[in-house]
Amino acid sequence: MDGMELEKRAAGPSMEEMEWDTVLTPSYREDLRYFSEKEYNKFVKLNTVKDWSELRWKDIGKPFEVTSFSKEKTEWEEKNGKALPVHTSWEMFNRSFHEWFVKDVPAEMSRSKKEFFSKLAKFQMRDIKSALGNVLRIHLWNYAHRIEDGIWDPRGKRALFEGLDLQKPRILFLGAAEGYEAMQLSAMYPQGEVVMVDYDEFCRDSRFKEFPESYPFLGYNPATGGNKVYNKSDFTIHYEVNDIRKLSYGKEFDIVLSVGLLEHFPDELKPEVLEWHRKFLKPGGYIIMTTPRAQLKSKLYYEIMADVMNHTYRELMTVEQMGLYMYENGLDIIRHGHIKVHNGIIAKVK
Ligand SMILES: C[S@@+](CC[C@H](N)C(=O)[O-])C[C@H]1O[C@@H](n2cnc3c(N)ncnc32)[C@H](O)[C@@H]1O
Repeated sequence: MDGMELEKRAAGPSMEEMEWDTVLTPSYREDLRYFSEKEYNKFVKLNTVKDWSELRWKDIGKPFEVTSFSKEKTEWEEKNGKALPVHTSWEMFNRSFHEWFVKDVPAEMSRSKKEFFSKLAKFQMRDIKSALGNVLRIHLWNYAHRIEDGIWDPRGKRALFEGLDLQKPRILFLGAAEGYEAMQLSAMYPQGEVVMVDYDEFCRDSRFKEFPESYPFLGYNPATGGNKVYNKSDFTIHYEVNDIRKLSYGKEFDIVLSVGLLEHFPDELKPEVLEWHRKFLKPGGYIIMTTPRAQLKSKLYYEIMADVMNHTYRELMTVEQMGLYMYENGLDIIRHGHIKVHNGIIAKVK
């Protein structure tokens, strides 16, 4: 192999050499496409607020609280006569959510349909309703996660994360679950280090561990200045099972990231959650946060998927509401907007 060959191999495949740009597997979509201009304009809306100091709560309203909960939570509370402890609610959520990520969706769709027709033939109303619920949920999951890729949304995440001034960053992911967004960031800003933190060990031992090794993250190749596809094993990741409130790091991270964390805390606790992000950030570092959007589609989703998703307090908010929490708590908003189903904000400490 000559020098040029070697260099090329080290750089990974170029976009032209890749055989595919999107592939639908039985459980998820792999997607190395860029948005077309039309798609970008449909899914990505950035920087709609001109001046955060002019926003008032009385004008933008407060977040929408999701009040339908999973059977698992309500049954636990009935049996134990008290509210489900928050840590246990996350353990339930993570096990339940993970089960859906690893499903063979087409096989599950035909199984649930068969089950529905067999219950229908027996004329038992309760069984029919429950089987119909299963059909509905797997079809919704197929559309929202597998076809539309609304949860991982790599194209939206790349649009949100692009163009930051970062070299080999140290990234801290608070409430990391399977760690998806830190890996996407690591692909775009490579050769740094990620610390993932979650106090549910199932996240490290199953959600992260079983995250597909072959899943492609499109990022940057410092050797060529072009694109490069990374996999989980290409990143330097330390996964810490710990309560965020007990972390002993100093101000040592270039990025502190959370995805779907702030909306699980009522207003009186939000300043503390924002402080968790500020506490570990290097001067000049970026806070990156996303939360699910308050839109009709998402309200319906959390209603239909209540048994899978709703074990704990949850709000849906607009990007204006999310940004105002951050702005009022001393953060400078650098970029804000929404991608498919999440709001995203990049901020610095004032
Ligand atoms: C809603 S999830 C994040 C969404 C995630 N992207 C997913 O796919 O599930 C929030 C995560 O934060 C973790 N978490 C919540 N409070 C925490 C705390 N005080 N310390 C550490 N982890 C926490 C939960 O265990 C959970 O895995």
